[in-house]
Amino acid sequence: MEEQTGKKVILSGIQPTGTFTLGNYIGAVRNWDRMQQDYDCAYFVADLHSLTVRQEPGALKKNTLEAVALLLACGIDPEKSLLFVQSHVRAHAELGWILDCNALFGELTRMTQFKDKSAQHADNVNAGLFTYPVLMAGDILLYQADYVPVGADQKQHLEFTRNLAERFNNLYGEVFKVPEPYIAKNGARVMSLQDPTRKMSKSDENLNGFVSILDEPNVIMNKFKRAVTDSETEVVYREGKDGINNLMTIYSVITGKSYDDITAEFAGKGYGDFKKAVGEVVVDALAPIREEFGRLIQDKAYLEKVCKDGAAKASYVAEKTLTKVKKKVGLYIVK
Ligand code: TRP
Repeated sequence: MEEQTGKKVILSGIQPTGTFTLGNYIGAVRNWDRMQQDYDCAYFVADLHSLTVRQEPGALKKNTLEAVALLLACGIDPEKSLLFVQSHVRAHAELGWILDCNALFGELTRMTQFKDKSAQHADNVNAGLFTYPVLMAGDILLYQADYVPVGADQKQHLEFTRNLAERFNNLYGEVFKVPEPYIAKNGARVMSLQDPTRKMSKSDENLNGFVSILDEPNVIMNKFKRAVTDSETEVVYREGKDGINNLMTIYSVITGKSYDDITAEFAGKGYGDFKKAVGEVVVDALAPIREEFGRLIQDKAYLEKVCKDGAAKASYVAEKTLTKVKKKVGLYIVK
């Protein structure tokens, strides 16, 4: 990709297991538009990764198409960026195997996500769950990515990817670019509306803790109405006021207003007014995404075309790396 444009490559995958939250929107999605100007971006739906946990087949299929529609609705432009479904590009599974044979049992055993997930799904500790980080490393290395935006939960996997890439390059000669983590410039951390000491998460059991970017306006307003605050009355950013601080962060990022401006705006008004105002700006910010998603999900022919074109473009890039790897390790290639 970089070869053609000279831009650095950013790559990210999302599993088709649920909608983004307001936290993802504020932390990342909002910046995608600009990122597509500055970088060559690759986004894919990591459906193979989802198989490491038992999925209902019909649901996986539906969620995969919805994830594609969601990425489009959030502003990923398939003319500017690579947008594809992981299982549509065979190179991922193939490179995954070759990398499996260069990943060490010991290092995979140390992955905290593996330990957590095997505890969570004790009845299904499958080999894919164990080699999950290797498949992920392949995703990244196939596209020679410079940067990978990662949350705390994926940091160890990226570190593993770097180690694996360096090991491979040392053994067989330079093939892979060693990727760096990408830290968003003005990303803010959004906390749960019910427990503002914890990060907002789509897997929160308390549905009032997070706002999904496809939530209906009345649902969003209700969630903000119920947001946990404190027993004071002043809208001010201060240590110990986690709930209010979180709402101020959200309001500030969306409106561009400073904390001082916000304090002045709500002087003499109650928390109720403030929560309502935050809810309203969130509703307005998310409305275009929800509407676009609603339109796209009806247009299956278009979504399929995006998938097909995306898979063809991604395969072209991925195959180049895969062929180099095959040659390096000594697999016999016939044209
Ligand atoms: N493991 C990531 C997650 O669950 C998804 C993912 C798969 C990914 N392959 C990737 C993210 C490559 C970044 C790069 O969130």
